[in-house]
Amino acid sequence: METDAVLARINELRVLIEHHNQRYYQLDDPEITDAEYDRLMQELISLETDYPHFKTPQSPAERVGAPPVRTLMAVPHLSPMLSLANAFSEQEIIEFDNRLKRRQDMTASIDYLVEPKLDGVGVNLIYNRGALALGLTRGDGITGEDVTANLKTIAAIPAQLDMRFPYPAEMEIRGEVLIYKENFKALNRQRSEMAESPFANPRNAAAGSLRQLDPSVTALRPLDIFFYTMGENSGMTCPDQWTLLQTISLWGFKINPLARLVHGIDGCLDFYRELNELRPTLPYEIDGMVIKVSSLDLQKRIGSVSRAPRWAIACKFAALQEITEVEDIKVQVGRTGVLTPVAILKPVRLGGAMVSRASLHNEDEVSRKDIRIGDKVLVQRAGDVIPEIVKSLESLRNGRETLFSMPLYCPQCGSRVVRPAGEAARRCVRLSCPAQVKERIRHFASRDGLDIDGLGESLIGQLVDNKLIRDPGDLFFLTEGQLITLDRMGSKSARNIIDAVKAAKNPPFDKFIYALGIRHVGQRTAKILSTRFTRISELMDATSDDLLQLHDIGPEMAGSLVSFCEQADNRALMAKLEQGGVIPRKPKAPTREAAPLAAKSFVFTGSMNGFARTEAKRLVESLGGTVTEGLSRATTYLVAAENPGSKLQKARTLGTIILSENEFLKLTNS
Ligand code: IVH
Repeated sequence: METDAVLARINELRVLIEHHNQRYYQLDDPEITDAEYDRLMQELISLETDYPHFKTPQSPAERVGAPPVRTLMAVPHLSPMLSLANAFSEQEIIEFDNRLKRRQDMTASIDYLVEPKLDGVGVNLIYNRGALALGLTRGDGITGEDVTANLKTIAAIPAQLDMRFPYPAEMEIRGEVLIYKENFKALNRQRSEMAESPFANPRNAAAGSLRQLDPSVTALRPLDIFFYTMGENSGMTCPDQWTLLQTISLWGFKINPLARLVHGIDGCLDFYRELNELRPTLPYEIDGMVIKVSSLDLQKRIGSVSRAPRWAIACKFAALQEITEVEDIKVQVGRTGVLTPVAILKPVRLGGAMVSRASLHNEDEVSRKDIRIGDKVLVQRAGDVIPEIVKSLESLRNGRETLFSMPLYCPQCGSRVVRPAGEAARRCVRLSCPAQVKERIRHFASRDGLDIDGLGESLIGQLVDNKLIRDPGDLFFLTEGQLITLDRMGSKSARNIIDAVKAAKNPPFDKFIYALGIRHVGQRTAKILSTRFTRISELMDATSDDLLQLHDIGPEMAGSLVSFCEQADNRALMAKLEQGGVIPRKPKAPTREAAPLAAKSFVFTGSMNGFARTEAKRLVESLGGTVTEGLSRATTYLVAAENPGSKLQKARTLGTIILSENEFLKLTNS
């Protein structure tokens, strides 16, 4: 690049970064994702490294964060709150270790403390003779904002330290304020009920809550905290980071249970991979791992550069939130005729996968989130969850965005759609609508249904369009000769399809029931039904009373099932399937070894440390137990984790067995 062009780009980056610093630190409402911010900052740092004569002390690359807002009082930290340099790959992590060894002329492996990089808000607590005197946000790293009153509303922050363990007369303790995922969801749900705009993510929610001017508002927010280091401390000596963590933990500061001391960089890399796997199951959000040289003496010798210590590094994971553009909003017709708006996105990489569409669920959701065609939107993929649009970024609109409205006619068959009173969905009610037919067959053949290999969306589309099949029953009468008339279908693939259909003729009964796609009958209900009925004919003749006797089958489900079974074309479908040789097999009764928790039901309350709810649920179910929301006399165990809430009291009166998270772990052997 020409030097003029370099300087122009450097200036541009500085302006951009300043702007985004303000959005992030002062308004708690960023316009770009962390990943994009990191990219801008990396570019600036690398240009300033290559062209050092353009460096200035005012450059945002030399500073952390933004100056504090006027409304909260600015107070200097006793010692600066530094930031961390970033590594974005295993290679960069290895280079970090090499760099340190080269600098210190070392050959031996270095001991590192590794722990999750919590995606929250850094705070600095100043204790005077064991009493919390001041609590500050990071601010620009030198001066923070006084949020003492707000921090005092967080139960996990000790107001007075435990006298049994000696502590320095004056000290700074630093940690990350955050909101657990479950609590965040509840908070946003509550906000949407009050017609307040949702927070983009738990970190923004934590930052916004912490910087309230009225502490009584903060007190209502489910803030939590983990502590990770000390700043200034009058004369305390501690050999290493690990001992430091154990010490502050004795004083009553919650430290992250995943923190670990490792020997050499290989240990760091192992933990990095492990943590990346664990990430979706953790109850709070993390955006990477932090590596710190453990020995405090070695830390001192290695030293710091202006904004960050040289002895530590933040190793970032792939971003789970990105900003992209809504190119179009299309309408899909599902197997029950429901019309679903789907955002067609400019493809973005999210958590390691390309994302190019996201369901918008229904028209109310589109208008509630005010999503327009052409909008820049924040999209996220949390763990293995399907991508979703968090919100549209109004500040980035240019006036050319267009509003979306639902079609009045089915985009597939052209018949008029209806919106039943009280329902959020519009539906195409024509059963023979080709979109519905295709979707019903796709569902029937899908992995959770009859699991017919090779029978995907496009093949089903061709089969229906060419009038070779009209319902799932027709699949079992297909011939090789018919298949090879289709586009791009050789005789070998045709034979494979026929074989796959044949192989699916004896599905487990519950999968068969689920595959029928009866309204309100999901996998769980299908399982329950499959334990009570043995044959298709038995199920088809069941009365509402028979069904209501089953545990967990309510009137709505029973009604839906009975009306399905009564319909002549459904009965004809069953006959056709039987004729085609489909005979579901009875599930084997689970053995005691395979289902140690059979007949046991669980309710969870409070936030678990090592587990996401969904994961705990999966675990219980894999061992044959059930998980319910509400507590009743039928509940065997209440698993009461941190901040359990009112269910604990109820369990005591009901005499339910109450387990701690640890006891739950033991019970499930995990
Ligand atoms: S140590 C000098 N440990 O990340 C080291 N920071 O990008 C100071 N953070 O300002 C920080 N988790 O707010 C440390 N386990 C962890 C952390 C962590 C999150 C935040 C912290 C810091 C920022 C740096």
